[in-house]
Amino acid sequence: MTARIGSATSRVDGRAKVTGAAKYAAEFAAPDLAYGIVVSATIPKGRITSIDASRARAVGGVIDVITHTNRVRMADKDDGYRDEVAPEGGSPYRPLYDDRVHFNFQPVALVVAEDEDTARYAATLVDVKYQAEDFATDLHARREQAFKVDKPIKPRGDATRALAGAPVRHDAEYGVPVEYHNPMELFASTVLWRDGGKLVVHDKTQGVQNVQRYVCGVFELKEDDVQVMSPFVGGAFGSGLRPQYQVVLAAMAALKLKRAVRVVLSRAQMYGLCYRPATIERLAIGANRDGGLTALTHEAIAMTSQHEAFSRNDIGWGDVLYTSETSRATHRLARLDVPTPGDMRAPGAASGVYGLECAMDELAVALKMDPLALRLRCYSDRDQDKNLPFSSKRLRECYQQGAEAFGWSKRGAEPRSMREGRELVGWGMASGAWEAMQMPFASRIVMTANGHVEVASATSDIGTGTYTIMAQVAADMLGVPLDSITVKLGDSTLPKAPVEGGSWTAASISHAIVNAAGDIRAELLTIAQAMPGSPLLGLTADEVTLADGAVVAIADRSRSVAMADVMRHGGMDRIEKERGSEFKEDDKHAHNTHAAIFAEVKIDEELGVVRVTRIVNAVAAGRILNTKTASSQIMGGVVMGIGMALHEEARIDHRFGRIMNANIAEYHMPVNADVHDIQVIFVEEEDRIINKMGIKGLGEIGIVGVPAAIANAVYHATGKRVRDLPITLDKLL
Ligand code: MOS
Repeated sequence: MTARIGSATSRVDGRAKVTGAAKYAAEFAAPDLAYGIVVSATIPKGRITSIDASRARAVGGVIDVITHTNRVRMADKDDGYRDEVAPEGGSPYRPLYDDRVHFNFQPVALVVAEDEDTARYAATLVDVKYQAEDFATDLHARREQAFKVDKPIKPRGDATRALAGAPVRHDAEYGVPVEYHNPMELFASTVLWRDGGKLVVHDKTQGVQNVQRYVCGVFELKEDDVQVMSPFVGGAFGSGLRPQYQVVLAAMAALKLKRAVRVVLSRAQMYGLCYRPATIERLAIGANRDGGLTALTHEAIAMTSQHEAFSRNDIGWGDVLYTSETSRATHRLARLDVPTPGDMRAPGAASGVYGLECAMDELAVALKMDPLALRLRCYSDRDQDKNLPFSSKRLRECYQQGAEAFGWSKRGAEPRSMREGRELVGWGMASGAWEAMQMPFASRIVMTANGHVEVASATSDIGTGTYTIMAQVAADMLGVPLDSITVKLGDSTLPKAPVEGGSWTAASISHAIVNAAGDIRAELLTIAQAMPGSPLLGLTADEVTLADGAVVAIADRSRSVAMADVMRHGGMDRIEKERGSEFKEDDKHAHNTHAAIFAEVKIDEELGVVRVTRIVNAVAAGRILNTKTASSQIMGGVVMGIGMALHEEARIDHRFGRIMNANIAEYHMPVNADVHDIQVIFVEEEDRIINKMGIKGLGEIGIVGVPAAIANAVYHATGKRVRDLPITLDKLL
């Protein structure tokens, strides 16, 4: 049998997805289903003075209008609202809790009706009066009031002095605007009410057990009373990490009305949830004339809400990538009257590395050095902050293979030196890095005597390919064909798993499966060795493997017993094993994935239109479980990176504290016409330290560095440096 791990296996859930057999949260039905439509606040800050729902209630088919004045009981303390990925500081937002308005688009009422259209119409008749208060929504207006976040990154040496004395210096600010995930699937929850008050929740989420604990916390229910399911997710990119308010409203209505309720947010309401925070990334770098860095400083200022302090690792990436004699990094947060920002693909790194890698490009210009040569000159084999070696770091090979595939050596050194007809051509590059994280996951394997295998875990597949890699790993470890495997996930009753995020799922779930499969192998061997005349006598579990439906001696393939015979002999029709991922703490190494990105842009000189005609992204991410789904992850990251560089930006009218382009017509994202040639290279990287199988995981790494590579290419094409994203044509003309 051919090995499945590492192959370009197509998605095992692909057929279900394209035929419509895969059901999403808003597609579950019930005979008693009612429909809830959210009424959103129209001011960013203040108090609700009155809600007149009489006209809405008078509409035939309207069942209830739920507000903070007539809701069911909810927890009075923050604990009930705190989820697995909530910021450590502050008070999580409590939907329909009281009369306070904390941000624009905050839900203030839920109109529930027998059908969706009636609810939608009646929601327009709810009359909400506010007492508005002064507010702030502009990061740039509040940057001076930003407070410092405590981060574990220690300053090294006296960076201020080193900067002042540096022969070559670059100091600039780079801006990232508020960006939205815009997954295809809207936030939706269908909550079924069972006799006795138990809830079955179909939710759009990246973590079913996280939502289960949250719903239990908010409504003070027991874990057994709430089951959360999310077997299919139509994209999330981080937006489904924290439970969103629609699940609270749907559960609240179901509990109040004792019937099934579905709440689907509108596309506009999706802009009142989580988002990538706007940040100002200030980079000041000092260097000797040969390109050796003497100082590397990074100050990030990000926005957060009034009620929570959300921050991610914008800073610190310079220490992962480069050597510098001194360094300093600080992170500040400005409080605004907005919803709490959230994780969005490579949170922190996407923004921070954008600034860092543009600054490195500008430094290369000042040094009159090739930007790739500068990266190689400062290459670091140790994490400078932790002062630890990497479990593996084949970034040098990423640079080399990426540059070769791209043709980097043919680059004209000067800006505006390359042209094709009426278009300026620019080539830029950047580095990328992300963390290789691992989390405690559990999986349960049930193998039946007829050769069927069920692998289960409460993890999610947010489109990343988790179903497929789980099946691949199980198939290889149990020696059965892929189509004998059923994968179950996205159900809170299954073995424990955290939210699918941080790119930690592949490594974590794979090891849980390997461990459970190991237990099955050991048990089969014990029974096989008890069979009369067993050919496997004297062997340990490590000396046998499961292959082609048999227990086989590794050293001598002729010594084998069919698994069906073993199970028959043992009088069993099934074997069931559950195990965790069981990683050992490794504080002797830093663990990261790395990438080198090369970008080509072509820019119409008269119109300023930028096309990203080619991207090569060379990634080192340990062992690749599935080259097809992994390439798709990187490609998706590159496309999001194109969006970040050229298109994406929430336009907020700060006079009203309200987003003006809360729709996918005016919030621009790359479409097919914006996406040209993307080449993904996986650099071979054997990591014997990080975990047994050498898996690092990927997904986030695909976007990191892409916006910088494109911005640097735009500079190379035009000689014009645009530091505030997105690089729209008005900024180039
Ligand atoms: Mo990812 S931003 O952790 O879904």
